[in-house]
Amino acid sequence: MTYIGTPRSRVDGRAKVTGAARYAGEFTAPDLAHGYIVSSAVAKGRVLSVETEAARALPGVLEVFTHENRPGTAWLSGNYQDEVAPPGAPFRPLYDSQIQFSGQPVALVVAEDFDTARDAASLIRVTYEAYPHQTDLHVQRAKAYVPSKKRDGIDPPPPPRGDADAALAAAPVSVRQEYSIAPEHHNPMEPHASTVIWEGEGKITVHDKIQGAQNSHNYITNVFGLAKENVRVLSPYVGGAFGSGLRPHHQLALAVMASLALKRSVRVSLTRDQMFALGYRPMTINTMALGADADGGLRAVQHEAVASTSTYEDYQEAVVNWSGLAYRCDNVKLGYKLAQLDAVTPLDMRAPGAPLGMFALESAMDELSYKLKMDPLELRLRNYAEIDGNTGHPFTSKELRAAYRQGAERFGWSRRNPEPRSMKEGRELIGWGMATGIWEAQMQQTSARATLMPDGTLEVATATADIGTGTYTILAQIAADAMGLAMEQVMVRIGDSSLPTSPVEGGSWTAASAGSAVQAVCYKLRDELLNHARSMPDSPLANASLQHVTFTEGRIALRSDPARFVTYSDAMRAGGHRMLSLEQTTSPDPNVQKTYSSYTHAAVFVEVRVDEELGVMRVTRVVDAVAAGKILNPKTARSQIIGGVVWGIGMALEEETFTDHALGRFMNHNLAEYHVPVNADIHEIDVIFVEEEDDKTSPLGVKGLGEIGIVGTAAAIANAVFHATGKRIRDLPITIDKVI
Ligand code: MOS
Repeated sequence: MTYIGTPRSRVDGRAKVTGAARYAGEFTAPDLAHGYIVSSAVAKGRVLSVETEAARALPGVLEVFTHENRPGTAWLSGNYQDEVAPPGAPFRPLYDSQIQFSGQPVALVVAEDFDTARDAASLIRVTYEAYPHQTDLHVQRAKAYVPSKKRDGIDPPPPPRGDADAALAAAPVSVRQEYSIAPEHHNPMEPHASTVIWEGEGKITVHDKIQGAQNSHNYITNVFGLAKENVRVLSPYVGGAFGSGLRPHHQLALAVMASLALKRSVRVSLTRDQMFALGYRPMTINTMALGADADGGLRAVQHEAVASTSTYEDYQEAVVNWSGLAYRCDNVKLGYKLAQLDAVTPLDMRAPGAPLGMFALESAMDELSYKLKMDPLELRLRNYAEIDGNTGHPFTSKELRAAYRQGAERFGWSRRNPEPRSMKEGRELIGWGMATGIWEAQMQQTSARATLMPDGTLEVATATADIGTGTYTILAQIAADAMGLAMEQVMVRIGDSSLPTSPVEGGSWTAASAGSAVQAVCYKLRDELLNHARSMPDSPLANASLQHVTFTEGRIALRSDPARFVTYSDAMRAGGHRMLSLEQTTSPDPNVQKTYSSYTHAAVFVEVRVDEELGVMRVTRVVDAVAAGKILNPKTARSQIIGGVVWGIGMALEEETFTDHALGRFMNHNLAEYHVPVNADIHEIDVIFVEEEDDKTSPLGVKGLGEIGIVGTAAAIANAVFHATGKRIRDLPITIDKVI
């Protein structure tokens, strides 16, 4: 292995910083028209009329689409559900007069240029019949229900085990509290956009901001009844997403609709405020109870969550399941309910569900540690789970103990004075807190193609995406190592619906999935080359089998005598090929899936400093010790964890979308009023990768790490804030007004 396990800069880095990488809203065409969306001003009701005359009269306006004049060809297949859709009836823009959420598109203006389209949109008058709406989860939770249909890929909470009620009542020490997290919105740097290039004769090429080009491709062909070969979706570069690009959004549907109707190229880009109508991390209220023996042994865990969804889809994520497997406990009762709001359907956001449920569990564990007068880390070690309590299965690997130890050591945890408000420097109170993070380690079935070119370079291809995670780079490392080539000789192609089948890039599964597929197809290519080399006349490798040869520098050479070799090009030619292209599909091992549980783990240690006079709160130090199997590229891996921790800081201290319940609308729909951490908010973040061997989750030994960095971080910060100030904040974000 030359490349795997070594820090490498992104192979796409130069393209990204020089502007050579183009994003969905940047592609153009000579006939390109521009769409601008008019959004609903009410949260619930129906459109009575849309006055479009003034807009249409504006020079340069080509068409105004509403539910009254939209082409009948749209929505042929009714409720087509995309690859990651929750159960329900997906939103269909301009389908009819019904309004389901504030910000819902009610018209699309298409003009020769963007400014004309926007100007014309401002001239459109919409009248509504507004119905009473409800956007307050605190009210709607009274009508919470268990979803009748489970969302694909999301396990409902496991059935209860033991008797949690009795065990809790009998426990000498207990904590029972409510922990809630505000709604949060994705704010990727690249706003969502779709550019549809009209290729003539009903063919379109679509540049879409999406985490899976094939998800958009299937969506378009199904919704518009188009032949597969008439649509190609490209998304080679994605300017951040982390869930916001998993599902095709309404700007895609509208751009395709307009392009097909006008028979010309159309782009629809969303403004930053329109992005707030795509979905959000659901507001979630956790009710959590823990019971323990006097020596800290957990006797009971009860965790119920109520999360917001829309009226038309049962959006679900795993919020409470973590509480059944994080620690050893015989009496566990978990519950997960949804409550409908008259708002857009929530949307997966980095580690969907986990940082919400783990905020509750890890805050409650901290509260329990104070009641027990026990060190919070000690309490966690005291209840360390050797098996997955939800299933009874062993873990494929779990080096969390090492993560606790290494993280604590690096942080200096042993120097912590357990007394709240006891650590001070100048005016600042210092707080140290910690928490555990857990996320699923998954592999998904994925296909990849490897093509050896006549000049000896290699192209590997699969339809997955790189949302900034480093997919291009790790795939190049894997392929280069497998084929004994230099990374520069490997060209990676992704983000194209015409490439071999891949699921969306999500769930932290891409390295294990696309990575394993690329490695497997390269190995297949090696076998094929060796077969050709062996059958050459007077082949120096005539009797060689795989274990007798090496594949390096474009040659198959005998291990025993490296001077005897066949070049890849000669082997290829001997087989009658100018270039050699193979495809391979890899899937997770079903026996492993049946008998093991696979998770990544993290131990997060945090220092906060609080100046009560000035009302300033800073996260000055974070140590995140992560156990995530093999680390392919410590540089891009570290960036992933740092990104997750920064987002965790945002979740803990800043991020919150406010709803005006009278209007039923998200109010702070811009980056001035929706706060995310900026550079000045971020101090030291130290990432440790704990050694972890995992030969079961994926052939590569990889478990994935795009999401684990955010899980546990907000809880560790809340725990540190308590240690600093003696104030327990159970409602995120922890804004300064809640603390002083
Ligand atoms: Mo992730 S929220 O599956 O992009």
